[in-house]
Formats: sequence, C-alpha cells, structure tokens
Amino acid sequence: MGRIAVLDEATAGRIAAGEVIERPASVVKELVENAVDAGAGRVEIDIEDGGRSLVRVADDGEGMDSSDALLCFQRHATSKLSAADDLEAIGTFGFRGEALPSIAAVARVRLLTCPHGAAEGTDISYEGGRLTGSGPGAARPGTVVWVRDLYFNTPARRRAMRSSAAETAKVSETAGTLALAAPDVALSLSSDGRLLWSTPGDGSLEAVAASLFGGDYVRNSVRVAWRRGPVGVTGLAGLPALARRDGKGQYLLCNGRPINPRLVRAAVDEAYKTLLGPGRTPVFILDLRMPPEAVDVNIHPAKTLVRFRSHGQVMAAVATALRAALTGTDLFPGRLGRGADPVPGRPEPGRVSEGPGDGSWGQPGLWAGLAREDAGAVDSSPGGESLAACVVRSGRLEALGQAGNLFIVARGEDGVYIIDQHAAHERVVFERLLGPDPGRGSPSQVLAVPETVHVSPGQEGGLSRSLLSLRSLGLDVEEFGPRTVVVRAVPAALTGVPAGALVREFLDRASAQEVRGHPDGEPGDGSFDMTRAARVMAACKAALKAGTVLSSGEMQALLDDLCRTSEPRTCPHGRPTILRFGLDELRRGFGRA
Ligand SMILES: Nc1ncnc2c1ncn2[C@@H]1O[C@H](COP(=O)(O)OP(=O)(O)OP(=O)(O)O)[C@@H](O)[C@H]1O
Ligand SMILES: [Mg+2]
Repeated sequence: MGRIAVLDEATAGRIAAGEVIERPASVVKELVENAVDAGAGRVEIDIEDGGRSLVRVADDGEGMDSSDALLCFQRHATSKLSAADDLEAIGTFGFRGEALPSIAAVARVRLLTCPHGAAEGTDISYEGGRLTGSGPGAARPGTVVWVRDLYFNTPARRRAMRSSAAETAKVSETAGTLALAAPDVALSLSSDGRLLWSTPGDGSLEAVAASLFGGDYVRNSVRVAWRRGPVGVTGLAGLPALARRDGKGQYLLCNGRPINPRLVRAAVDEAYKTLLGPGRTPVFILDLRMPPEAVDVNIHPAKTLVRFRSHGQVMAAVATALRAALTGTDLFPGRLGRGADPVPGRPEPGRVSEGPGDGSWGQPGLWAGLAREDAGAVDSSPGGESLAACVVRSGRLEALGQAGNLFIVARGEDGVYIIDQHAAHERVVFERLLGPDPGRGSPSQVLAVPETVHVSPGQEGGLSRSLLSLRSLGLDVEEFGPRTVVVRAVPAALTGVPAGALVREFLDRASAQEVRGHPDGEPGDGSFDMTRAARVMAACKAALKAGTVLSSGEMQALLDDLCRTSEPRTCPHGRPTILRFGLDELRRGFGRA
C-alpha cells in the first residue's frame, strides 16, 4: 500500500491560500485590485477589528452575471488572461485567478454582484472553501465582498495576526498604495465605523498624496515627469524636509502596479546623494512606464517583485528623472519663514485641501513626525522659482555683508539670500576634491615635516582600503613600519588642514563602519562609500570655520565659487548652504501681496 495520497481540495486550497493571503491587508489588496480591474470609479473599504473579523469592499465596477459569479471562486478562473501569450503583456492587477478561491478557503465569504442594467444580482456564500449558499441578490450595479473571520479554520495563522491597531496600519498602508496607483478611483477606508481617509478620484496624484499624507507633503515635493522613448518616470519626489530615518514613505509603481521600492534604491541614492543628511532616506512616489514586455511581473504570487529586462536602463531612467526634478528647485522652501506667519491662525497660502486622513494613515504615530518640524509653510510653490536657475540666470549673487561671522547676506535678482559660510565652503572644497583624479589634478603641498599616525589593532582590518580612499583625494599616505602610517603631502584644496588628525579620524570612522555598516545600508553590505566619506570629512575639516571674519572680496569669491559647483544648494552632508527670501515672499511679509 503506497503512502502517497492526493490532498483533498479543501486542504490543498488552504495551503495554497497561505501564499497569497497572509493577513487582512492581503485580503484588502486582492479585493481592491479586483474592483479597480473591474473598472470601478468608487471603491469603499470597511474593516472591523483591524480586518480580522471583517473586511468589506464595495465597488461600482462592471459586476458579474450569475455564472461568472459562481466560476470566480474556482482556482485558475480568470477573465484577465486567456492564453499563455497574454502573460507577456499584462495590463491588469490580477491574472492568476487565485485570489478569490484563496480567500474563500480561509474565511467566511459573501459576494453580492450585479452587472449594470441587469434585473437582479447574485448572492453567493463560501465557508472554508465550501459553497454554503447561492441565489438571486439585489440589483445593485457593482460588487460587494464581505470577508469574515479570516483564518477561522487555521488557528496557527489566526494567532500569527497582530494587534488590531497593527493590522489596521498595514491595511491602511496597502490600500493607500493602491490609491496612489489609481488616482482616478475614489477610494475610502473606514475602520470600525470611522472614516480614516478618502481620495477624490479626480486623477490627480497630488490630491491622493494630500489625502493620505497631508498638505505639507505636497508642498514639500516636486513633480517628476520624464520620458525617453518608450520609458517614462512620473510622480512626486520629496524635498529634504520630508526625508526620514526609517526608510518609509517610498512608493514605486511599474506600469501602475505597486512594486517593492527597494528595486530602484541604487538609482534613488544616486539622485539624492549629498542632498540629504547622513542616515536619511527620501520619500517618493514614482510610477515607471515601459512596454509590458520589458518587465516580468509573474515571478512571485504577491506580484510585488518584478524583473526588468534591462535593469541598467531602468536605473538610469530613475536617477535621471529624479535629478531633473530636483535640479532647479528650491530644496528648502519656506525655511526662513518658519513660524513667521504674521497673522496667527490664518490659513496658509496655497494650502492644499486635506482629506480626513491628514497624514495619519489612520494610525496615530505611523506617519506622525513626518519631519513636520522642518516643514515650513511660507513658500507654497515648491519647484516654482528655482534657486539654481536663478544663480545661473543672474550670473552671480552679490555679497552685501556678514552676519554673526557665520552667514553671508547677499542680493540676487529675485530676492535676498543668506549663505552659511562653512556649509558653502564645504561644498566648494568637496567638489574640488571630486575631480576624476584630484590627486594628480591639483598640485600637492609637501609637508615640511611628514606626520605619522598610529594604527590601532581595530583599524588594521580595512587599512589598505582606507588608505586607497585617502589617496584618491590626493593625499600622499602609506604604511610605514608596523602599525604606523605616514602622510607626506596633501592636495592644494586641503592646505592648512591638520593631516595627521584627518587621517586618524578617518581610520576611526572607517573601522567603525566596517563593523556597524552604513546608516543607509545593511551591516556589512558594502554600500558604505568610503571614498565619499573621506571626501566629506576632508571638506568639513578644510572649510572656513564659523566665526571667521571675511572681507567683502573673500565673501564674493566664495559665492562665485559656490555658484560654479554642480550642487550649490546643499553641503556634502545634505544641509542647506543657501536660504532664499524671495521678493514675492518679502512682499507678502510686508502686506504688499
Ligand atoms: N469586484 C469584481 N468585479 C467584477 N468582477 C470581479 C470582481 N472580483 C473578481 N471578479 C472576477 O473574478 C475573477 C477571479 O478573481 P480573482 O481575484 O480570483 O482572480 P484574478 O483577479 O483574475 O487574478 P489574481 O488571482 O491574480 O487576482 C476575475 O478575473 C474577474 O473576472
Ligand atoms: Mg484578482
């Protein structure tokens, strides 16, 4: 007697369901995707107890007739794919014909559906994969699905669900992501009878973002709109005020389908480098468009991973698109006006209407502290007047004087500028060290007395790599006997910098990173860019200190140098170098608007 038996349908269904339906948020994802695929203009999501006791999704889409309604709970029953060839070019969220049978296998499900214009609808119930009722239903055009008691028949899975609040947060995140993917659908989410957020469905991505994250988000973002041939990148890129420490707030779509944003991380890092402080990650919503055959979405049941035919091309497109959006934008709009609203309580100019969610995703704390402390509100036109463009257009900023031996006050064509002298000089030195081979390009200053630096046992591991980074800056530095390195010369850009102290500090920092990993990466994942870290550190050491008195000639030279850099708006640490008081802003402040 053999030991192998074919599993019965119900058991097989429960096992397969585990892959697609992990938690209430997965149910929400599948049902909302079906609603959007059915052409709905309005989708309402209601959950109870974090979706553990109920998820209800109602849409006004095309509905199903009674035979389709019965068929849709069969495994591999789909209206979205008819031949294997269609897999090459998928234009809908769904295509596997697996979601409804999976949900029905692990919950108590009721589906009420009716095509537009039909005299009556169909009402079907399933429980643990078994049909428990079917008959005529109300003639309400569209579809409503109730999913109760998720995993009632799989106690281990049921116990694995988290608290009601945690599941609600996850549902909100998942539904919000779909709202971003479908701005022309009016989506709402209610939890235990309370509306958490709703989107207007007018096709505007900004409107969806404002509904989900609040108006500050939109004010502190710039639009991305880039296209080359069949490849396009659109969306919103967050300015530094929205940057986060937890890596959240990144949304990526590919041909309208939400996918894992980590797929484009390298390109995003490239575009934002030196615009954000250390350990900070940008927020963004990006939609990549490419011919369907250029991307394979069928590599995982949850469909959040895709494979690009040409990964390099996609990365280049993302980096270029972001860079194009961020260049020529005032990165720190409204910084100067923080808290300076002359009439307290007056609505801020240009305030975007906020949905009831107002940035909370329905969960206090989840999006709380979205760098609100940084999000000024005076300049309401992110991306309006561009600083870099102004610098180029007007030719120069004219230095007027120094304040606090720390800031340079300058006049530009379109307003008054305040420049942080240390940060500005850091940027200038950083770029001088940035040439293809700065060591050869700029003449070295041979030290009268070579400096020696003791290497501690902890620093020995990555020593040769660290020395290579220092040499790329133009330092003449090498190992010299046991546990000692010697510095013989520094590049001109670092004249006057205590070379020994620089090397010692860098070796400390580099060895700490070897152990801990880069703040932006996994421990030891190799993403720590040592050469860049060396450059940032050297620029900081060489830059003018706060408190240094400058002549007007020195101030002007610094401003001219700064305007010639490739990124005059931030220092290499990502802090602002220049703040602008635009003439429009000044007029408003003096009541002349
Ligand atoms: N809300 C809805 N309105 C109209 N038809 C629907 C709706 N939900 C499901 N259907 C129909 O039922 C079919 C099965 O849905 P199901 O979600 O199980 O599979 P799918 O969407 O085709 O693929 P996937 O498993 O990848 O989601 C769909 O192809 C669609 O024809
Ligand atoms: Mg589906």
